[in-house]
Amino acid sequence: MTERTLAIIKPDAMAKHAIGDIIQRYEGAGLHPIAMKMTKLSKEDAEGFYAVHRKRPFFHDLCTYMASGPVVVLVLEGDNAITKNRDLMGATDPKKAEAGTIRAVHGASIEANAVHGSDATETAQFEMGYFFPELK
Ligand code: CMP
Repeated sequence: MTERTLAIIKPDAMAKHAIGDIIQRYEGAGLHPIAMKMTKLSKEDAEGFYAVHRKRPFFHDLCTYMASGPVVVLVLEGDNAITKNRDLMGATDPKKAEAGTIRAVHGASIEANAVHGSDATETAQFEMGYFFPELK
């Protein structure tokens, strides 16, 4: 089933100049960027995006971190895009991510974990609308 998912290349991966490598991995897996922008989030932008996590102890640090440098935000389209992207990324904690996954290769810590990817259909809808309200 063709699906869309939202991905973010986070500030740590940007600082490592890993944009090209990460997009190559998406494309190599059949996840095609259909919308993409480089931007710098404000703390408020990050808080709105991660609102589902607002009660978690890591929320404040996560939002401060996501606003600490530029990011690339993409909508990826492909067969089973949500699950496929989660498999490509690996576990949230890079130390637990399977070898060869984006987070295992590029992630530094659970916070600086290189990439974000939507985890379900509903969150993908919310996240794509948050950054690309013009996409239908
Ligand atoms: P992400 O996929 O962007 O979704 C929420 C983010 O919170 C997650 O990746 C991590 O970078 C970050 N985070 C920080 N601490 C934790 C934690 N203890 N558990 C889960 N996510 C965490």
